[in-house]
Amino acid sequence: MSKVTVVGAGNVGATCANVLAHKDIVNEVVLVDLKGDFAKGKALDSWQQAPIDYYSTKLTGTDKYTATRGSDIVVITAGIPRKPGMSRDDLISTNAKIVTSVTKSILKYTKNPIIIVVSNPLDVMTYAAHKASGLSDKRVFGMAGILDTARYRAFLATELNVSPKDIQAVLMGGHGDTMVPLPRYTTVAGIPVLELIEKDKLKAIVERTKKGGGELVKLMGTSAWYAPGAAAAQMVEAIIKDENRIFPVCAKLNGEYGLKNMFLGVPVKLGKKGIQEVLELKLKAPEKKLLNKSADHVRKVMQVFNKMKV
Ligand code: LAC
Repeated sequence: MSKVTVVGAGNVGATCANVLAHKDIVNEVVLVDLKGDFAKGKALDSWQQAPIDYYSTKLTGTDKYTATRGSDIVVITAGIPRKPGMSRDDLISTNAKIVTSVTKSILKYTKNPIIIVVSNPLDVMTYAAHKASGLSDKRVFGMAGILDTARYRAFLATELNVSPKDIQAVLMGGHGDTMVPLPRYTTVAGIPVLELIEKDKLKAIVERTKKGGGELVKLMGTSAWYAPGAAAAQMVEAIIKDENRIFPVCAKLNGEYGLKNMFLGVPVKLGKKGIQEVLELKLKAPEKKLLNKSADHVRKVMQVFNKMKV
């Protein structure tokens, strides 16, 4: 028996629940939102898709945390999304309170869940949820790297006119414009991407990736949901199936990469117990410099959070 709670029935949360139901790997998905009827509607709509798309995952929508009791995994998507002109960091004053209060409500009914944070500003909201939960840092982490890497992979697939399935990549750092795509660790069916693409073109793709979220906010007037929701569902799958998948994940660092006391995107091994291991790549000096710059930025946002009364 496995049960997953998704908090926040907005675009990202509802997509995550829906994609997860399609995978047919958990018994129950509970969608919680303060706007209770909205969550109920989203869950019912997804359940009515089950006879068409053939899945058995039960979906429930609610505004009551009692329904989350005994969750194996909780995905937190609650909070406001950005509007054009806003950075993810501008959301902190609203979302820090929401994420802290959601985490505490979850812990009332489930003692030791795995928590995946999706709310922005991601790295600091993951830090906030970890702090509020008191859980092991192997069990609280954030989704950003899969999404950011997916954007990078999708852009490369378009440029090279190959299937996105064949693009493998890793990306590190914070979920913001300082993120660090790593061309040296990017391959196309095992072929180093640098052998297949001109440097300038790759550079342009790296820059587009860094602002990939903002590009969508400009196009739609709000932030993205299909890829973010699917990325969170993929993390749930790796945990439920104990796959030991290697994903870039926003994880607590305890000295890895010379960084500690913060959450930042790094490659990890993800399985049943959550983060089984943080992988330490042998970064070259310029890559390390970019990672440190990203860490500095995340630390600044952490300071804003630490000064807030939540
Ligand atoms: C994005 C938001 C979800 O990058 O952070 O689209």
